[in-house]
Amino acid sequence: MPVTRLQGIGPTIFSTMSALAARTGSVNLGQGFPDADGPASLIEAAQRALAEGANQYAPGIGVPPLREAIARHQQRHYGIELDPERQVCVTAGCTEAVAGALLGLVEPGDEVVVLEPYYDSYVAVLQMAGAVRRPVTLRAPGYRLDPDELRAAVTDRTRFVLLNSPHNPTGTVLTDAELQAVADVAIEHDLVVITDEVYEHLVFDAHEHRPISTLEGMAERTLTLSSAGKSYSVTGWKIGWATGPAHLVAAVLDAKQWLSFSNGTPLQHAVAHALDHEPDWPRELARSLQGRRDLLCSGLDDLGLSPRVPEGTYFAMTDVAHLGWEDGLEFCEALPARAGVVAIPAQGFHDSDAGRHLVRWAFCKEPDVVEDGLRRLREAVLEK
Ligand SMILES: Cc1ncc(COP(=O)(O)O)c(C=O)c1O
Repeated sequence: MPVTRLQGIGPTIFSTMSALAARTGSVNLGQGFPDADGPASLIEAAQRALAEGANQYAPGIGVPPLREAIARHQQRHYGIELDPERQVCVTAGCTEAVAGALLGLVEPGDEVVVLEPYYDSYVAVLQMAGAVRRPVTLRAPGYRLDPDELRAAVTDRTRFVLLNSPHNPTGTVLTDAELQAVADVAIEHDLVVITDEVYEHLVFDAHEHRPISTLEGMAERTLTLSSAGKSYSVTGWKIGWATGPAHLVAAVLDAKQWLSFSNGTPLQHAVAHALDHEPDWPRELARSLQGRRDLLCSGLDDLGLSPRVPEGTYFAMTDVAHLGWEDGLEFCEALPARAGVVAIPAQGFHDSDAGRHLVRWAFCKEPDVVEDGLRRLREAVLEK
């Protein structure tokens, strides 16, 4: 029996489904990791850092070259000015940035408004922090943020909004109007916004990612979290960061020094190199991902699964109810035996029933892997 603060939180669905994919020899369109590595110069920079002896503890806050490169990244892409000494903290992936932020800032009993469906680590850490989550649902088929629902979720105990845009799993990129609605609520109720922007560069078509901290009145109340994992296709490196006002960044550091303390010294140096010398690589990746998005979505469409064409991220969502599956988990559990494909049921990312029949598919795989998955799906009986 787990301790109270972990009760009701099972193993992450991503580990469960990736293990199922490996066990059944299925094509893994479940967990969001790419098959191809990031840029060669990034890998070479890591090799150099290893050979040159960057192999001992990094400072808890991160090596200075990386903090400086993160500050330059925020300035280059968004015009955000940061002091790398006080406004940037390096973390073990965005996962630890989320944990550090919530454990370092949220008091037991504080209410946190969070977009539903949510990335599963949010739920676990909110529970560990003793927080009360107040979901605001992005509903199928459009997955837009309803400002009235947002307002209704706020009470006099609310202290934070935990935002994620581009949004996993729906693929929504919040519009300026939606971001403004969040900003208005945050300013009116004096809330801090913690925003997970790991997919910041992975947006498609004419969609643009705008950090909420750039909206008027938001810089002083926004803690922004991101990571090199998605932008540079090195999800296994776990180099992430938190940026924003010094007092919010200090709170992340207060907690994270007792979590990992620090991690990946040579990888921190390599990411610093990539942020400065490969600034356009993530946008190139987005262009290539867009092709794979189209491949997956048109294939799923042909199968009658009518995906929501995502505006960003690695993922497309489908509704499996019209194939006779009211329960997306049941569909995903049956899929390896029926088709040799693994996908992720979205119901675990909801408190409400809104995701019961929704399934998430990853297209961050090589085109031949996506093709193979689609071929298998075409040859299978998908109706219940
Ligand atoms: C929304 C979101 N936040 C955070 C993470 C984790 O980031 P990292 O691998 O840098 O810890 C992921 C990974 O899938 C994600 O989708």
